[in-house]
Amino acid sequence: MSMFYLIFFSWVLVSLSYLVLLGSATWCLQDFVEQSNRQFEQKTDRFWEFSEQTNSWVEVELPYDLVSCVNDNCTKAGLIDRTTTETREEHLDREYDTPKQKGSLEKKDGGVEENSDVVLPLRKRVSLTKMSETSIWVTGVSGSVYERFWNGVQWVIAPHDLPVSAGPTISVFMFNQTILALSEAGFLYQMQMSENSQPLWVEFMPALDQGTNKKAERNSVTQIKSGVVSYNGEKVTGSLFTDFSAMPARRVYFCTKNGLLLELIEVETPRWVNHGQPPGANVAAIADAASIRPEVVYTISSTGDLYEYDRTSKPSWKKHIWSKGTASNASLIPSTGCTIHGLIGDHSISLFLLTKGGNLIERRIQQRKWKWIVHGSPKDHRLTSITPVLQDESNEKTVSLFFTTSAGTIFEYQLLKHAGISQENQIPEGWLSHMHPPHAKVARGIPGLPLQVGRVLFPLDDGRLAELHLSGLGGENSGPTNQLNVRRKAPIKYVWSILDAPETEGWNAEYCTEDRGPMNCITGIKDEPNDSGTTRMARRRKASQAHHDYLLPSSLGGGLESPREEYNLPDNWINTNYRLRVMHGGRSFFFITDGGFTFEYLYAENVWLWLRHDHSTPMKGALGNYNGSLYVVDIYGSLLIRERNSNELGWINCTAMRKGRQVMGGPPWEGMTGKAMKVTAEDALFFVSKNGRLLQFTVALRKFKWKDCRHPPSTKVACIVDQEQFRENVVFVVGRNGRLYQYNKVTELWHEHYQSQHLIISLLPGTAMRTSSMSLTGSLFMLSQDGGLVEYHWNVWEGWNWVEHGAPDKGVTLVGSPGPCFEGNQLFLIGSDGKVYLRYMDQMTWRWKNCGFPHNGKKKDKNPRQVGDRDTKEEICIDEDFAASSKKEDLQRLNKNCNPKVAATRPIAFSEDSVVFELRDSRLAEMRRVEDKYWEWARTISTPTSSCFANYWTALAS
Ligand SMILES: *[C@@H]1O[C@H](CO)[C@@H](O)[C@H](O)[C@H]1NC(C)=O
Ligand SMILES: *[C@@H]1O[C@H](CO)[C@@H](O)[C@H](O)[C@H]1NC(C)=O
Ligand SMILES: *[C@@H]1O[C@H](CO)[C@@H](O)[C@H](O)[C@H]1NC(C)=O
Ligand SMILES: *[C@@H]1O[C@H](CO)[C@@H](O)[C@H](O)[C@H]1NC(C)=O
Repeated sequence: MSMFYLIFFSWVLVSLSYLVLLGSATWCLQDFVEQSNRQFEQKTDRFWEFSEQTNSWVEVELPYDLVSCVNDNCTKAGLIDRTTTETREEHLDREYDTPKQKGSLEKKDGGVEENSDVVLPLRKRVSLTKMSETSIWVTGVSGSVYERFWNGVQWVIAPHDLPVSAGPTISVFMFNQTILALSEAGFLYQMQMSENSQPLWVEFMPALDQGTNKKAERNSVTQIKSGVVSYNGEKVTGSLFTDFSAMPARRVYFCTKNGLLLELIEVETPRWVNHGQPPGANVAAIADAASIRPEVVYTISSTGDLYEYDRTSKPSWKKHIWSKGTASNASLIPSTGCTIHGLIGDHSISLFLLTKGGNLIERRIQQRKWKWIVHGSPKDHRLTSITPVLQDESNEKTVSLFFTTSAGTIFEYQLLKHAGISQENQIPEGWLSHMHPPHAKVARGIPGLPLQVGRVLFPLDDGRLAELHLSGLGGENSGPTNQLNVRRKAPIKYVWSILDAPETEGWNAEYCTEDRGPMNCITGIKDEPNDSGTTRMARRRKASQAHHDYLLPSSLGGGLESPREEYNLPDNWINTNYRLRVMHGGRSFFFITDGGFTFEYLYAENVWLWLRHDHSTPMKGALGNYNGSLYVVDIYGSLLIRERNSNELGWINCTAMRKGRQVMGGPPWEGMTGKAMKVTAEDALFFVSKNGRLLQFTVALRKFKWKDCRHPPSTKVACIVDQEQFRENVVFVVGRNGRLYQYNKVTELWHEHYQSQHLIISLLPGTAMRTSSMSLTGSLFMLSQDGGLVEYHWNVWEGWNWVEHGAPDKGVTLVGSPGPCFEGNQLFLIGSDGKVYLRYMDQMTWRWKNCGFPHNGKKKDKNPRQVGDRDTKEEICIDEDFAASSKKEDLQRLNKNCNPKVAATRPIAFSEDSVVFELRDSRLAEMRRVEDKYWEWARTISTPTSSCFANYWTALAS
């Protein structure tokens, strides 16, 4: 970002709407240069920066360096600082507490009403493409590709991602039995079948000017920005139910990143034509591809002008200019328009387009004469995309178009058909608002997809999809239907259904697999009714139910009746929850002492020893572990990495990096126990800052980077319940108000979950439990403030549900945080009585088991593992072996410094079959699972800080 832009924008933005400014940037820049010898007087503390990545304005934090870049050589040219003096923390909080876009207004019923001033971020990668009646292809916010497929019984989701090396996908094209995908980097891929009939993506490069160009030049020419396919006979006014991919394409056009118009003439033996660009302008989007007139393409330049390209005429490029007087504010959004034939008489053709100011305009040709018609926009709304819908042919009078506003609301615009030769065909009050689904906005600037008459799909801003459909027709569980002619006695209303998106976007739709029995994938088989006479299908959660799980947190104090009280963390919170951290399963873990020393317990050369890792500042806790590097926090809140670099052990101060913060919490667990850790280019660890913000620290490929994810508007973040073990891309947190929230890494949105006002969650890390990585069914475990176990469970049939497990025994509450968990059905907990309790699932029933503590010396059966006639589930944890081995230490039991009860320190899963606890006397104790079934106390481990058995090996790490 150059200095000019920053100063210029910050100057004017405060008082004016920036969409207008975007369109007139060139004019203003000149204005700035003329005035640049004036003194810059800072009158505000709020400045915005344009982020090319998200294509949106981001408020910058002060002080802000003004950087001037010449040929990538950037130097600091100045500084914007605050005019008033306030602490950094105050400033950051204020930034959030007064939503910058005046986002919400309180409604009487406590709900939140949107203000049309809100401008949603542009979700550039999102697109919807219809392959056929039964198959819709979606590119998601994360750049994934997935197909929603109707298998005859239900909609299922199949992944079709490009290879990882291709990067994110932004759209797909279907024609002549060909499927192409376009990557964000500008390259096309064709789907082909491998020898074993598996689909695979193969690069499909435009071959232009064969042989003459050097590779570098060729690349710059052929990076594709967008494309349009036009089909024979496709007219918006006709209802159309054909398999698009099987249908011959009339034309396939692309526009390149450097503004050229390309045509793909033949796929089989690829033939491309470069049509170039209009003189003095570029092609930024294709407005219409040969559906107005064959061979003729309408394009829009980045300056917002409409051009017509006809290779057979001379000159081949023509500009459609405005008549005098109207031209000043009619710059067009470069995007595909919507063409309607015969709107006012059989031979009229209308091309509907949007202006950068958000107005609807029409370019109409009738009797060989072109004309502009301005339709405007609903009051106080800016239109950002047009969605054509399939028209009900029985309705002779009107034609409807749907529009998404910048604030994520849908408007329908009705036009009268044949309303006279040239007169206005706008119905007075022709704008009808369909709002948006509850607690979800429609993605800005992305066209929806007509499914059939009365059913339209829209992408949502939060990464899911929604269907706007006539009530009684369509919805989540409804396939393509034939009831097209819904006879209208009374007008039928449109309603919204939310459709879940897959885990790649952070949501709950499970990918389809062949091995799921009756609910299988490609061929849908109806389930037989079961004993109770209801089918499983019928038990599928109603779409409307899903609307209430995810609430958009308001800035006014959370959910409808949420308590506003904020709870504090106890002083030794970091120490208690992050004292232990596994480094290498079964071989080494870290232990942070009360005195701030960092010790590693290590198995080396057949002996267990303690290794001390010295640092100049005392430590508080070990907050994370990624790829062999340990993340620790010192008493000042600095996040430090301890890692081995070639042969040297070193420390890195992450808080000292750009945008670094002081932290106090991190992810509870690394990877799923028993699941190999997946390393991707997006990998990040999440931390909680001292002032209650969620921070994303990118660690992939050692390209360290901080990002502030802020906090839910109504509360600060207390701790992370789970990072991405339960849902990819989602971090669950507990707010300081004791309520559960989630942050979606892909959409950068916060959601609150429905939660009874009586349930207050303890401010402790949690544990996620999933029985299989194939299924999204599973739970988050937390403790309630009164020491009971709380589960937040999800499955396909019922969606989200809270389950309260309570405490194991009368007079015993749970202390510390829940976990670790094993096998998706065993969860360890610590009781206030210093005993370990196991909550486990036995034949679909949850049970408690008291596992005691290592020295309670309770005698067990001599040979418990072979007891056949006894109820074996009683033997899920035993301490027989330990009791035996500790006999010889009986003497030492007299040591009054020993207290073998279990401390509230968060234990760790040391391996798939081992848990390490801290005891109240500062020793550690390990429980192991033997024969895959029984848990037993295996050994105690003396620590450098325990005065009970001071017998250990130690060395200094170097
Ligand atoms: C970058 O610019 C600075 C100041 O204009 C100059 O001193 C420096 O040599 C430049 N560096 C490079 C690599 O061009
Ligand atoms: C699609 O098929 C039609 C008809 O067979 C053909 O004319 C057209 O060239 C094909 N388009 C492409 C891009 O292959
Ligand atoms: C241009 O602005 C005028 C007045 O503000 C408005 O009436 C007209 O509809 C606008 N035209 C377009 C194409 O946005
Ligand atoms: C880490 O960096 C922060 C910020 O620069 C600094 O305040 C702190 O003293 C540093 N800590 C260590 C141990 O180097």
